[in-house]
Amino acid sequence: MEARVIVNGRIRELGEVGGHVTLLDWLRGSGLTGCKEGCAEGECGACAVLVAREDGPERTRWVAINACLVPAAAFDQQEVVTSEGLGRRYGPGRLHPVQREMARRGGSQCGYCTPGFICSMAAEYYRPGRRPAQAEGPHQAEGPDGAGIPVAADGPRGGNGSGAADDEHGPNGFDLHALSGNLCRCTGYRPIRDAAYALGQPDAGDPFLARLAEPAPAPAATETSSAQGRYVRPASLAEALELLAARPDARLVAGSTDWGVELNLRHARAALTIGIERIAELREFSPGPGRIDIGAALSLSEIEAGLAGTVPLLDEMFPQFASRLIRNGATLGGNLGTASPIGDALPALLALDATLVLASVEGEREVPLARYFTGYRQSVRRPDELIKTIRIPLPVASVTAFHKIAKRRFDDISSVAVAYALELDDGAGETGERTVASIRIGLGGVAATPLRAAAAEDALRGQPWTRDTVAAAAEEMARAGTPMSDHRASEAYRIAMLRNSLLKFYAENQEARS
Ligand SMILES: Cc1cc2nc3c(=O)[nH]c(=O)nc-3n(C[C@H](O)[C@H](O)[C@H](O)COP(=O)(O)OP(=O)(O)OC[C@H]3O[C@@H](n4cnc5c(N)ncnc54)[C@H](O)[C@@H]3O)c2cc1C
Ligand code: FES
Ligand code: FES
Repeated sequence: MEARVIVNGRIRELGEVGGHVTLLDWLRGSGLTGCKEGCAEGECGACAVLVAREDGPERTRWVAINACLVPAAAFDQQEVVTSEGLGRRYGPGRLHPVQREMARRGGSQCGYCTPGFICSMAAEYYRPGRRPAQAEGPHQAEGPDGAGIPVAADGPRGGNGSGAADDEHGPNGFDLHALSGNLCRCTGYRPIRDAAYALGQPDAGDPFLARLAEPAPAPAATETSSAQGRYVRPASLAEALELLAARPDARLVAGSTDWGVELNLRHARAALTIGIERIAELREFSPGPGRIDIGAALSLSEIEAGLAGTVPLLDEMFPQFASRLIRNGATLGGNLGTASPIGDALPALLALDATLVLASVEGEREVPLARYFTGYRQSVRRPDELIKTIRIPLPVASVTAFHKIAKRRFDDISSVAVAYALELDDGAGETGERTVASIRIGLGGVAATPLRAAAAEDALRGQPWTRDTVAAAAEEMARAGTPMSDHRASEAYRIAMLRNSLLKFYAENQEARS
């Protein structure tokens, strides 16, 4: 079958793009210059577009992604919508509701970021489960056009689509995190937020809403070559493993949120790129009993939705991991595949005592994550193996926390990350003092690899859960790893953060109890 992409409802030949041409370059080269290149590294969202992804076997979801990071070849037989297509499909000469609200409320000045904002906003506009606040009604403010602009009512945190307005959700259920990967240099975010919060529900006749009721395009087995390399999407895991066995130098690519940066900024090229993010066996999700198996190629957004809060430690980590745009592509397989000491999922998975299922043509083997890392960006994974599944044992510990210390609260790389999984006994003794039944502490950013804070764990296990024991263990935390100074943080700062993190965890736990 000819490699092609359905863009804004029209079929376009993909051509021989190999593995290095990004979706952004391909779209712009096709004349669709609405999507912009701001940074080419996933930071600004000017390149955001919508793609049709499966929402169960029968339905579709519109998902916003960074077109600058992903290979165009990965979209063979897929549907993509750009900002140009949103209005056009709505009717000749008409704006899409998201475009109309942005225009009416002054959400665009130079306009460079606007198409990206429009696409991120449209994905949230069509999110199933987004619904208006139940509790307090919206406050009305006077807008530039004299219209009443609803702004968020104060109230309890609503959660994703819970319908309660708060400082991160509009009265219309709009989750502001949907825009966390979009930067604007001139408008200021108030008018953009106003536009987002003014959106109603899509009309029954909306063509993009109607599309959600149909199945998403199936992944296609793809092969395309250019002078700079070949891109292959195998039809099955078995085919991918055969290919990898024959070419262990091949570059596996899932969400491409790491590899895309290498391609664009470091001009890395792979002779063979193997697209694995749509392989069914890598997208399985099976929760319990006894364990949760998470396919290595599921996006973080899909995992977040699948877990639905059942692993609070991961639930705390997700919003701190990059932006919604990145999480819509990024996978756990990719985070583990880089074996980076500052991958945020890694300390969390260490604290959860996760194991990895590695697959090759020789079969599968299960490796405890605590024994996976062997050195800086090195692991026990052989070049002919891929990560198939991340396995989390159940039940998860009842007290967990994820502390990410970074320069910005959201969308930043960790200087230090600490994940906790703690089980306390019930304190039924004479003093009522609780003791530490079990504790695992995962650390990132303080050594060449992610690691467990073994000495601090030893200092706590079986001990009373008191300020004194925690303070002693915090001194062990401060000695964990081999933190270094770099542009993110000094060695002394990282040491101080390790110590303080444990004290903070204790304080949070005491607070929650009182
Ligand atoms: C703007 C921006 C912000 C970011 N913020 C964060 C952050 O806050 N925290 C964080 O931890 N990371 C962050 N990242 C890094 C990145 O998003 C994560 O590492 C992500 O998990 C990578 O997943 P991916 O599927 O996109 O990986 P890819 O880019 O597809 O692959 C990354 C590497 O893993 C290998 N790989 C992929 N899948 C597998 C597999 N199944 N088996 C074996 N190897 C595999 C690939 O060969 C490649 O070497 C950020 C990146 C960007 C661009
Ligand atoms: S161009 Fe900045 S995120 Fe893609
Ligand atoms: S309107 Fe100029 S960057 Fe956003």
